[in-house]
Amino acid sequence: MAEDFTLQEVLSDADAYFAAGDARGAIDVLFQGWDQFETSGMDGAVETVRLALGRICHAFWVKRDFETGTRITAMVVNAALERARRTVEPEFAAVYAQAAAATGTSPFPLRRIFRHQNLVRLFRRVCAQVAGDVVECGCARGLSFMELCLSFSKHHPDWSGEGFHVFDSFEGLSEPSEKDLAFDASDADAVQIVRNMLPGNFAVAFDLVRDNIHRRFPRVELHPGWIPSAFSAVSGRSFRFVHLDVDLYQPTLDSLDYFFPRLADGGAIITDDYNWPGARTAFEEFCARHRLQLQTTDTSQAFVLKGSAAAQPGALA
Ligand SMILES: C[S@@+](CC[C@H](N)C(=O)[O-])C[C@H]1O[C@@H](n2cnc3c(N)ncnc32)[C@H](O)[C@@H]1O
Repeated sequence: MAEDFTLQEVLSDADAYFAAGDARGAIDVLFQGWDQFETSGMDGAVETVRLALGRICHAFWVKRDFETGTRITAMVVNAALERARRTVEPEFAAVYAQAAAATGTSPFPLRRIFRHQNLVRLFRRVCAQVAGDVVECGCARGLSFMELCLSFSKHHPDWSGEGFHVFDSFEGLSEPSEKDLAFDASDADAVQIVRNMLPGNFAVAFDLVRDNIHRRFPRVELHPGWIPSAFSAVSGRSFRFVHLDVDLYQPTLDSLDYFFPRLADGGAIITDDYNWPGARTAFEEFCARHRLQLQTTDTSQAFVLKGSAAAQPGALA
């Protein structure tokens, strides 16, 4: 039987491999530790291993070695998918790894990759049929926004960001309202979400995000400021796709109020946060008020389509 290792041994072995320039060796050691700790029910140790894997990926972002970072992140993502016996489209796995490496974002939690795959599926479907600008409200380090840009650029190789907009306070979450805090205290996931609902949480410096995005897509427009006042920068534009990831009731509702009337026929607005109580309430209230068909994904997003497209709901494949 293989010998059991302590968490400390696994971490220092991985450090030694990494210091010797063998990132692959470090990753192998960490995945072996993950298997062992999971079998022993050591959830805290598993989480520490995931953090260590995230740090290895992040180290290449710090070194500005994005090519190696993408390769190493892809290795981690594929190994994590394999051990979870889950798959995503290989093309999307590559986009996810490249976006994570470009923005210095950990590829974990792994469940995020399935959610973002659904986001990009809807995005591709809309972009194939509808013209207009693209918006993300709430970007953190820029991971999901980079996924949209990288997917779009696959079909538009000379495109360098024109017509794509990011809105973020760059000061993190705004103040939660009563509607954000209306949650079921017996639901462990909801309790965890509400713990994350601190004003200022998820703040990332504007310069860091701008560099992450402009390095590859210099024509993207970043609009720092609180929602909705920052939206005046795009008045007069028409939009085909809006991704909302601001977590809370008020900025989600304000974004829907602003962008839905400016959405092109066939365009879509999707929220990442249908499992956050406030964002869910905002989406449901908005759709009920305007008699719109709210659709959901199997990865806790909700979306709404404008005009004739709304009559053709369908699975995101
Ligand atoms: C969960 S993070 C976004 C994650 C990101 N989409 C990704 O892929 O990693 C939420 C973001 O919303 C921004 N945000 C929250 N409330 C806001 C508000 N009222 N106005 C502007 N930005 C806000 C935060 O600064 C943060 O960057």
